[in-house]
Amino acid sequence: MYDIVQDYYGRQLQNSADLKTSACCDISQVPQWLKPLLARIHPEVLSRYYGCGLVCPQLLEGCRVLDLGCGTGRDVYALAQLVGPTGLVVGVDMTDEQLAVAQQHQAWHAEAFGYDNVRFLKGYIEKLDELDLQPGSFDVIVSNCVVNLSPDKDAVLRGVQRLLKPGGEFYFSDVYADRRVPDAVRNDPVLYGECLGGALYWNDFLRIAIRQGFADPRLTEDRPLEITDAALQPRVGNLQFFSATYRLFKLDELESACEDYGQAVIYKGTIPEHASSFELDKHHYIETGRVFPVCGNTWHMLKGTRFAPHFEFIGDFSRHYGLFEGCGSSMPFDENSGGALQGGACC
Ligand SMILES: C[S@@+](CC[C@H](N)C(=O)[O-])C[C@H]1O[C@@H](n2cnc3c(N)ncnc32)[C@H](O)[C@@H]1O
Repeated sequence: MYDIVQDYYGRQLQNSADLKTSACCDISQVPQWLKPLLARIHPEVLSRYYGCGLVCPQLLEGCRVLDLGCGTGRDVYALAQLVGPTGLVVGVDMTDEQLAVAQQHQAWHAEAFGYDNVRFLKGYIEKLDELDLQPGSFDVIVSNCVVNLSPDKDAVLRGVQRLLKPGGEFYFSDVYADRRVPDAVRNDPVLYGECLGGALYWNDFLRIAIRQGFADPRLTEDRPLEITDAALQPRVGNLQFFSATYRLFKLDELESACEDYGQAVIYKGTIPEHASSFELDKHHYIETGRVFPVCGNTWHMLKGTRFAPHFEFIGDFSRHYGLFEGCGSSMPFDENSGGALQGGACC
């Protein structure tokens, strides 16, 4: 599979318009706050963007960020501006042609930003331990439309778990299917390269995440994918594909279900660009100043991470009230339209 993917992204595709699905959406869906950052990125890098979502979580200033499958570096250069001169963004990719474009424009971006805080490494995302990266050294790991291309998703998440600091998060966009992808689709090189053939059935993804120590994956946004190429459409049959962004926190305390301890939080409105509300995920839109009841896991995701100083915490774990109401188990994606709470589903 490595050869197929390297050939697809290294030689066959020349720019975003060559893709055959709506995975890579247009600039009008980019949130307002991100537009000035993208405007400072080199046009060649922008034109070779092959991602399927927004991988810019809140509160990144000073963070160490790793981008798995960084391609030509659009997200690396956007994140570089968000982490600022005291942070660092490392991009990893296995395809020479993609990395060459990313590195060719590194000095140009350093000049534009006034600092050079990015590194690019050649490597496989299943073998992160072979790279010179310190275990437990990243605040945030991101990835945009890459994990589906990996032949060993368990290995990817295991490596992520190893490299994250306690309280760090894997925030990543990818493609998922509404059922297990049959062999005929998986073995089709174009469908594989287009990020469809290797897509996980969403519930299998949840199983892998939990197996690798991420007990409570949180969905932040999703949207159905359209296969825009008429020749490709019949080859996928009844399968439905979704682009979705999950955040997985590295927190030992997380439980396998959302348990109710009668706790609540109050968001202080102090995170830059998020003065009126904080979105933890698709089901947690926390307005500034409001007392917001939370389960024990959500409490940990706010208390045990970089978000803690921006919240007041009410209650503790001394009394248990049973399962937190509304903890769902059906397909988490919206079939008709964007599933984001607000704003665009993609950058
Ligand atoms: C769909 S593109 C996305 C690129 C980039 N994230 C973006 O948003 O433009 C997939 C990228 O992942 C890289 N890739 C795929 N599988 C990989 C693997 N197993 N290890 C390292 N890189 C991989 C490819 O070389 C390609 O650059």
